[in-house]
Amino acid sequence: MQRKRYKALFIAVPLALLWTLPTHAQGKEQSVKGDVAQNLYSADPQPLTPVQCGQCHPAIYQQIKQDGKRHQFECVECHQQLHAYNPIRKNWSEIMPQCSSCHDLPHGKAFTDCLKCHSNPHTPLTIPSDNLADSCGTCHAGPMAELTQFPSSHTEQGCATCHTSHGLIPSCMDCHEPHVTGQKVDSCKACHPVHKPLEVVYDVSQSSTTTCGSCHEGVYGEWSGTASKHGEVTCAACHNKHGLIPNCQKCHETPHDANLLKKFPVCLDCHINVHDLPIKRK
Ligand code: HEC
Ligand code: HEC
Ligand code: HEC
Ligand code: HEC
Ligand code: HEC
Ligand code: HEC
Ligand code: HEC
Ligand code: HEC
Ligand code: HEC
Ligand code: HEC
Ligand code: HEC
Ligand code: HEC
Repeated sequence: MQRKRYKALFIAVPLALLWTLPTHAQGKEQSVKGDVAQNLYSADPQPLTPVQCGQCHPAIYQQIKQDGKRHQFECVECHQQLHAYNPIRKNWSEIMPQCSSCHDLPHGKAFTDCLKCHSNPHTPLTIPSDNLADSCGTCHAGPMAELTQFPSSHTEQGCATCHTSHGLIPSCMDCHEPHVTGQKVDSCKACHPVHKPLEVVYDVSQSSTTTCGSCHEGVYGEWSGTASKHGEVTCAACHNKHGLIPNCQKCHETPHDANLLKKFPVCLDCHINVHDLPIKRK
């Protein structure tokens, strides 16, 4: 369909070029002043600069200006054949620059159809995620492996659901509410490695008590109101991995006489509630 446009424009090119020439009337006036006419032809034509090409191709000029990255060089370094498209000869691909005239195969032999991904050579690094289709894992084995090895709802989302354009990193909050108001996205990532979000890990030195409390309200209520010294110990310090129940001896080696402990091996038989230890008030 795009090609059809060129049938009309094939005629438009000469017209456009004519338009830029001096009009007949001007020509006449100048032929009177012979010396001026001579001056007009004193210099040799120079190759068009990108700015000059851009006067007729403003959109492409802007694309290269904004996102051309390292393709910001002379148009004619790529376009060695110019304005030579002939819809009858169907010579489009013949006259268009070939990537291979300057590049080898930077991604190996599996990727030869450069324009399939780099669909706009004037903005070579702006690649729509759709173009990459199922090839993400070929280059990014790590994320792919994590998503397959640790199945979660994120595995069911295609890569491009989150990475809507290549290289874009989404915010968790695009799709989720935080556990507690004001929680920052960095903290989400610290607990949930995004490609295996159910493998929760957390830094035990960080106090995340309100986050824990957003789901474990009952325990949180007891703990935050306790008069015992366990109220100064964070949830994560005891439960250093999610769901893990700590052993008291991890922190209290031998609090009592060995005989007593032999008789009553379960600490909580006497201490009752670890989140709200009964203590003697002084
Ligand atoms: C790195 C090489 C490269 C540079 C630099 C480059 N082009 Fe292109 N250009 C191409 C390729 C390759 C195509 C063919 C794309 C296709 O077939 O889809 C193309 C296509 C075009 C087209 C026709 C398709 C369209 O999108 O309308 C125009 C017009 C064009 N370029 C103009 C320019 C101008 C003007 C400049 C400089 C301001 C420029 N190009 C710089 C590689 C380049
Ligand atoms: C006076 C206006 C004008 C200038 C200057 C101009 N072009 Fe074009 N060019 C056109 C027109 C009109 C077309 C027809 C297709 C279109 O752009 O829609 C065209 C088509 C093209 C095409 C695609 C078809 C083909 O036959 O090659 C390329 C590539 C291209 N121009 C590159 C360039 C480059 C590179 C420069 C600068 C060196 C340049 N043009 C300067 C008017 C111009
Ligand atoms: C006239 C030579 C030339 C042509 C033709 C050419 N390139 Fe390039 N390209 C370069 C140069 C020079 C660089 C910058 C140095 C490098 O990365 O090798 C570059 C860089 C790139 C980059 C990285 C851009 C960046 O900013 O890091 C991509 C992607 C790319 N080219 C893709 C393509 C594709 C796809 C084609 C074919 C449509 C193509 N190139 C055609 C010369 C060219
Ligand atoms: C399956 C999609 C795909 C194909 C096919 C593909 N590329 Fe790429 N290419 C990419 C992606 C994705 C990047 C990384 C872009 C970024 O850095 O954001 C890239 C980066 C590049 C770079 C810059 C980084 C580097 O490794 O030097 C160049 C140059 C390049 N491609 C050239 C080419 C050429 C030439 C071809 C054809 C032989 C090609 N690509 C085919 C997807 C592709
Ligand atoms: C041809 C190889 C190639 C393909 C295919 C490819 N990428 Fe990339 N990708 C790269 C390169 C190269 C970079 C830039 C290198 C870097 O910064 O680590 C990159 C960067 C990224 C980044 C940003 C990384 C960061 O640290 O900020 C994300 C996200 C990404 N790619 C996701 C994807 C997704 C999703 C797909 C599939 C839709 C995909 N890539 C397909 C090569 C590729
Ligand atoms: C649920 C959304 C989501 C899905 C699905 C997803 N990602 Fe990501 N990805 C992210 C977020 C968010 C980050 C940033 C992580 C960070 O900063 O710690 C990221 C980071 C990345 C990075 C850069 C850091 C790294 O780990 O190398 C790459 C590459 C990447 N993703 C590729 C992929 C690929 C490939 C897929 C599909 C196989 C995919 N992602 C699926 C959200 C997602
Ligand atoms: C593009 C949307 C999207 C983004 C971005 C996203 N997620 Fe998700 N996530 C989902 C969907 C959809 C589900 C499944 C339904 C649900 O639980 O809401 C999900 C589920 C989850 C789950 C539960 C997993 C399971 O299998 O039950 C966790 C944990 C999670 N996301 C954390 C995160 C974190 C942390 C981030 C940021 C690093 C993030 N997500 C970014 C869409 C997203
Ligand atoms: C201190 C660690 C921690 C932080 C910080 C954290 N989460 Fe979670 N998140 C968890 C735990 C633990 C679960 C429960 C996992 C389970 O059920 O096995 C969870 C579950 C989830 C779920 C699953 C659905 C649900 O509500 O049960 C989503 C979605 C989620 N988190 C998103 C986020 C987002 C978004 C952020 C950042 C705003 C975040 N998380 C910050 C620990 C954390
Ligand atoms: C999004 C809700 C959510 C958050 C946030 C959350 N949990 Fe949980 N937690 C659960 C669910 C659901 C279970 C039970 C299912 C399971 O075992 O994964 C659980 C189980 C537990 C258990 C084991 C309970 C038992 O009966 O064995 C402990 C201990 C625990 N969580 C501690 C914490 C701590 C500490 C934090 C904060 C770092 C936290 N949780 C954050 C939802 C959450
Ligand atoms: C992560 C380490 C940790 C674990 C596990 C732990 N505690 Fe403690 N406990 C502490 C700290 C710290 C104190 C305060 C010590 C101090 O200030 O002298 C404390 C104090 C106490 C006290 C004195 C309370 C007070 O307010 O004076 C008792 C009783 C106690 N722990 C019993 C237990 C029991 C029973 C368990 C197992 C169910 C347990 N602890 C598990 C760290 C821990
Ligand atoms: C001093 C260590 C310690 C601290 C601090 C602590 N826990 Fe516990 N937690 C335990 C132990 C030990 C158990 C097992 C109790 C039992 O066997 O009856 C437990 C049990 C639990 C359980 C499962 C049983 C139940 O009562 O539902 C949850 C959930 C839990 N803790 C969450 C939390 C949260 C949330 C916090 C912070 C608000 C927290 N814990 C603080 C040591 C601790
Ligand atoms: C037979 C009942 C009983 C058992 C079993 C028991 N304790 Fe105690 N524990 C006590 C009493 C009584 C006190 C003194 C209470 C006070 O001073 O408030 C005490 C005090 C403590 C203290 C505080 C000591 C101090 O110097 O302040 C710690 C810590 C403690 N116990 C840990 C444990 C641990 C860990 C276990 C299991 C290995 C355990 N206890 C088993 C009854 C018991």
